[in-house]
Amino acid sequence: MMALETPTKALAELKDYMQTLGDLSGAMSLLSWDTETKMPAKAAPFRARQRAALSTLLHRMSTDPKLGQWLEELEPQAESLSVEDKALLREVRRDYDQATKLPESLVRELSETTSKAHTVWVDARKTKNFSAFAPLLKRIVELNQQQAEVLGYEGSPYNALLDLYEPGLTTEKLDPIFNALESPIRTLLENKSAKFPRPEWMSRPCPKEKQEAMVKRIISAMNFDWEAGRIDEAPHPFCSSSSVGDVRLTNRYFENDWTSCIFSAMHEAGHGLYEQGIRDDLSGGPLGHGVSLGIHESQSRLWENMVGRSRAFVTFLLPLLNEVVPEQVEGVSEDEFYTAINRISPSCIRVEADEVTYNLHVLLRYRLEKQLIEGTLSVEDVPEAWNEAMNTLLGITPANDAEGCLQDIHWSHGTFGYFPTYTLGNLYAAQFFNQAKQALPQLEFQISKGELAPLRSWLKTEIHQHGSIYWPDDLSKQVTGNPLQVEPFTTYLATKY
Ligand code: CO
Repeated sequence: MMALETPTKALAELKDYMQTLGDLSGAMSLLSWDTETKMPAKAAPFRARQRAALSTLLHRMSTDPKLGQWLEELEPQAESLSVEDKALLREVRRDYDQATKLPESLVRELSETTSKAHTVWVDARKTKNFSAFAPLLKRIVELNQQQAEVLGYEGSPYNALLDLYEPGLTTEKLDPIFNALESPIRTLLENKSAKFPRPEWMSRPCPKEKQEAMVKRIISAMNFDWEAGRIDEAPHPFCSSSSVGDVRLTNRYFENDWTSCIFSAMHEAGHGLYEQGIRDDLSGGPLGHGVSLGIHESQSRLWENMVGRSRAFVTFLLPLLNEVVPEQVEGVSEDEFYTAINRISPSCIRVEADEVTYNLHVLLRYRLEKQLIEGTLSVEDVPEAWNEAMNTLLGITPANDAEGCLQDIHWSHGTFGYFPTYTLGNLYAAQFFNQAKQALPQLEFQISKGELAPLRSWLKTEIHQHGSIYWPDDLSKQVTGNPLQVEPFTTYLATKY
């Protein structure tokens, strides 16, 4: 069939509609950013109403039968459309099916239960008391099981939930990945975690203003576009994008742990560069954001770990730190700095984990979530199962549930199936970084000079600009010649440690 010269009327109407929907979502995301960073306290009740109104409108627009009609009209001619338009139909179909399959009663109960659960979880974590949170978690698991049934799946019901965060991801794909990761990481851990104490200079007090100044220098070196974004302070670092022209990062600063802000900032800026690098003409439409959580996390981990924690980067970083925070790095050599930021030290807390142990934390959550959703583990037994797994995997036992199964916010939000994307990010990052090294033979030297533009522009050309046009496995094949692989990451770890 001949390619259509001009888009059909239905396609033009669909695009127009989706652009409006996307622009309203952009406005929503800016409101959410503001709520978490700058909003005056008295605005809270009104802001809640504004966000609820916008989210009702967005839901109504996403489930409008008109969308279904356009899709039915256009899908039969999908093969004759351009790559972009075909991808557009695929994304609209995916969102439309998800939005329309879930009955309103289920959506409402999930939202009511999780807003209650969040408050209860905060208290339960404070008082280290899992049993206070257990009844709500039980209901959340049941609602997620119902959600899986409604969405539909093959194999495990957990597959329906995984697919929400990473299109096409299944337990059939994940089981072998985690199995292949487990033993090399545990071996590395047994051989390498000869613990040496955290050096004294890492805890030298450092005022927030100086940390902010150093972070700005580093992110500028990464070629973050300050005319299309900003960075502010928030209790949890995140990146939020309302268009390619407005990408907002947040970061946090600990006075007695001043190196921490460097890596959280590089992480969020990695997400931010992805969003800033998307083609202008895709922004605001269904293809105008990063394609999946796994690919997104590959960008943040690549900058945080493969660049930020590399020996070459330290050569660039230390002189910069000597200018901005001379007292903090006085007497510290490049080698000492490099070793200190790459210490392997098993911890009960995921967000404090080093690059080596991090994936074991994810693996633990993956296996428990899968069992909970499949109904082979009951909520009451979670603390014991958690502690046992921690002991087997990392050789440590949480002192209480706050250090164990109550530490993450995800379950209280009703989010099951999200954790595995953290590990996918690490795996994709290793594959992409290998490819970047081949394409840029001077990369290590450039990094040591703080010349990060070539890497940034390679990532933009190969990955960022495409937005959501290619699904993760296809993108990976296109960039590296291979789908998702475990081996590049395990080789990276083995070489580095
Ligand atoms: Co991230």
